[in-house]
Amino acid sequence: MIITIVGGGSTFTPGIVTSIALRQKELGVTEVRLYDIDGERQSKVGVVVDWILKDMKSPIKLTVTTDKKEAYTDAKFIFAQMRVGKYAMREQDEKISLRHGVVGQETCGCGGMAYGLRTIFPMIEMIDDVEKYAAKDHWILNYSNPAAIVAIACQKLRPNARIINICDMPIAIIEMIGKCVGIKDYTNIDVDYFGLNHFGWFTRMEYEGRDVAAEIRAYAKEHGILLPKEHIEALKKHEATGDRHANQSWIKVWTNAARLMELCPEYIPNTYLTYYLFPKENVEHSDPNHTRANEVMETREKALFEGVDRYLATGEIDKKVFYAGAHGNFIADLAVALLGDEKKKFIIIEPNNGKVPNLPDDTMIELPAWITKNGPELIGIEPISTFYKGMIEQQNACEHLLVEGAIEGSYTKVLQAFALNKTVPSIEVAKEVLDEMIEANKAYWPELK
Ligand code: NAD
Ligand code: G6P
Ligand code: MN
Repeated sequence: MIITIVGGGSTFTPGIVTSIALRQKELGVTEVRLYDIDGERQSKVGVVVDWILKDMKSPIKLTVTTDKKEAYTDAKFIFAQMRVGKYAMREQDEKISLRHGVVGQETCGCGGMAYGLRTIFPMIEMIDDVEKYAAKDHWILNYSNPAAIVAIACQKLRPNARIINICDMPIAIIEMIGKCVGIKDYTNIDVDYFGLNHFGWFTRMEYEGRDVAAEIRAYAKEHGILLPKEHIEALKKHEATGDRHANQSWIKVWTNAARLMELCPEYIPNTYLTYYLFPKENVEHSDPNHTRANEVMETREKALFEGVDRYLATGEIDKKVFYAGAHGNFIADLAVALLGDEKKKFIIIEPNNGKVPNLPDDTMIELPAWITKNGPELIGIEPISTFYKGMIEQQNACEHLLVEGAIEGSYTKVLQAFALNKTVPSIEVAKEVLDEMIEANKAYWPELK
């Protein structure tokens, strides 16, 4: 049984392979293949992955390749995590937006739309390559961002693809909330949730008869932030906690999430909503000359690649250089659930088809689903109320228009998508940002006429 990781050179690859190796027997996996278009970057990550598998005494064979046929032939699972344009373009997305006074973020607002326009067609190419070579009953589990836009594009252009789009943020929020209220066993916190990717709400959170939602509401009110006490203390002292969600640039997000819970007390928001509901505050808090892309390059990316160089020079490795945890576990557990027909609940992104009755069928909705061997079965909910419906409809229209604009090569549609995004105050600003982004993305975007 073969698992291929697309974007093998990703900073998340070592963590994901660790999660796979820990589940080797349940998955029955015999080979992990890394595939990337940047062979040099990937070969360095391959050094760490090779070391991890040996260190874990894993029987899994490792193949590192830039050849599609070698990568996909007979693969059962494809774990996708490509970052088209890499951190250099993420930095552009963030900085161009901020220069024009709007949210500059990897997946939200103008930055997310720019990243979407880069990623749609490489994802379609990947789906076609996978269909050509992989096992007929393969599954593509996709983390590649911006997952909301990617999901719409795949649904429009390749509706029969065996792809499940996923995000680690709901599970990361559950883990963080678990830490705040003292629950270690966070995967057993039972939740209801609805929304679009990076645009959703938890409507219920329970654990062994405890109302976790009520507990976290009280915690947020007391502390004014949705981070556990140890992270708050470490941040005050400017210490790293090892949890990337508690890095300096994420603080505003967790603070705004607590504020949002006070203002809209019914549900617990996905932290990404803070970009849409506090756009002004987010821009004011951001440094247009030093964004999250810079922080990631200076921390996660630097630690990994310097760690490889040190290992090659000295034979010693520092396990802290690779990120593991909820991110890798989530995708590997999803693969286990698909194989085992366990009917376990996972929050995933799929076509709505009436599961949220008052949203369009073609909405790519993020909802809990039962995972069966035939794929996910979304768990339907009651109609949603006006505030949430209105927010989702606007964002959904924005993302659909963007994808239509990309497919048709329509400048007007893409401009309208930018103008429709809640983080953008006027169509003139939308145009300024878009025109600068067209220049910066010449090597990546479809031509817009
Ligand atoms: P990274 O830049 O370290 O790794 C991405 C890799 O993708 C690079 O090695 C790059 O060469 C490769 N790549 C680019 N275009 C490709 C293509 N067309 N085919 C194959 N490989 C290609 O980035 P990272 O920070 O490790 O993140 C990897 C991806 O995972 C990003 O898309 C990121 O947004 C996503 N991510 C998603 C979630 C989620 O919740 N959905 C969580 C974490 C990361
Ligand atoms: C969360 C989100 C991902 C996003 C990541 C960014 O995990 O769910 O979609 O890619 O954060 O993290 P970074 O450390 O790269 O800013
Ligand atoms: Mn995500």
